Amino acid sequence: QQGLATFPPDFLWGASTSAYQVEGGVEGTGKGRSIIDALTHPEGMADFNVASDHYNRFKEDVALFKELGLKAYRFSIAWSRIFPDGIGEVNPKGVEFYRNLIDELVKNEIEPIITLYHFDLPYALQKIGGWSSRETISAFEAYADFLLNLFSSKVTYWLTINEQNTMILHPGAIGTDPDYPMISKQALNQQSHHMFLAQAKVYQLIHQKYPMCKVGPAINTTSMYQATSRPEDAIAAHNWETIRCYGFLEVAVNGRYHPLAWRYMVDREIAPIITSEDESILQAIRPDFIAINYYSTATIAESKGDSSDISARAGDQQIMLGEPGVYRAADNPFLDTTPYGWVVDPVGLRLTLRKVYERYNLPILISENGMGAPDKLETDGRIYDFYRISFYHEHIKQMQLAITDGVKLIGYCPWSAIDLVSTHQGYAKRYGFIYVNRDDNSLKDLRRIKKESFFWYQNLIRKNGDIN
Ligand code: BG6
Repeated sequence: QQGLATFPPDFLWGASTSAYQVEGGVEGTGKGRSIIDALTHPEGMADFNVASDHYNRFKEDVALFKELGLKAYRFSIAWSRIFPDGIGEVNPKGVEFYRNLIDELVKNEIEPIITLYHFDLPYALQKIGGWSSRETISAFEAYADFLLNLFSSKVTYWLTINEQNTMILHPGAIGTDPDYPMISKQALNQQSHHMFLAQAKVYQLIHQKYPMCKVGPAINTTSMYQATSRPEDAIAAHNWETIRCYGFLEVAVNGRYHPLAWRYMVDREIAPIITSEDESILQAIRPDFIAINYYSTATIAESKGDSSDISARAGDQQIMLGEPGVYRAADNPFLDTTPYGWVVDPVGLRLTLRKVYERYNLPILISENGMGAPDKLETDGRIYDFYRISFYHEHIKQMQLAITDGVKLIGYCPWSAIDLVSTHQGYAKRYGFIYVNRDDNSLKDLRRIKKESFFWYQNLIRKNGDIN
């Protein structure tokens, strides 16, 4: 352990949520519908109308975040709470809610970190083409400008779009909209291109008009292992790592399509149409930092070139479905999985941090990392989530090693600050340091209860991450 770097004194020990998963406050608040309200979700899963009722209980929640010792809280703003139609008329109650939340955080010395868009596109924009339309680019820019104008003096860190790669590669991941069936891969890549442009416009807006603020993308980022030392497996792992992660980061950070990812799209006739003006917009500016959501790694073998690639599945249910000619999922005998089959790989976090830093040389904020589990409220009123403590313990150890390796890591915002609706398993699968007493079928009393991991993280923050 000799020679280990310590966490910087201003390290942002934080935690994360997203608007639609935690807020509720859907009815009677002036909020417009978002695509989330239109999606069909798995049967029996909680809807998002009340969620964790953070909309009404944010003061109590911020007081708990303060007690937890958070230095930062990363949350998203629901676009349709501000602009019910995505653009145009403002919902004053929405502005008031976020103003109060930000003021409450600032008062408690918790740095607010805002995600502008976390999966919940206003439905009014969806109806006019959503991200397929270039009008959504200007709507996003206007929405960002409106918020920055209000909050730039109180909020330094702004994340643009949460997990653009998940939305594009796994369009059904957050549910399906019966009115808008799946679109082609080319159309998805065109949407992705528009998101890149919208993001670049916001980088520019912030640098020109709000120079005191910092902006970054928030891509789901990981590393891929080759299944064996066969060189063909190494190529397959590199293929998938590029198509899935670094192809997205390359546009978001360096403003150019990664040659391999571009070639992949061109070969399949699924590349977006881009103009020379688009290219200049993308290349004009770099972000100030990179936010990454890291959950697990994946292990990849050479494709067998037939449909068996598609059905081959490894532990990680989130990202693994192979593609003939490109890659095939493989199991990793060295790694365990969560009760929900997600690969747990703390060392993979160190590797991912190294890769992102060496490629882009920008400060990194971990904007999500966490363990979903069926936590149980015991009869003694406690939640013994020791598995989560050990998950965090191991990941934070690796973060420290990554800092020692030379990575500039500025903060850690695990998922999630408080229990919320998980995208597929509702309240059956929980992530928070704070338990919310409800389940998918009953709202119960929505009481907040500190889990064992709450006390552990509180102590860790007090010691500025000194894990030993
Ligand atoms: C991330 C998303 O990909 O994964 C979150 O940004 C999501 O919104 C988290 O909740 C965990 O996934 P899930 O499906 O377990 O909720």
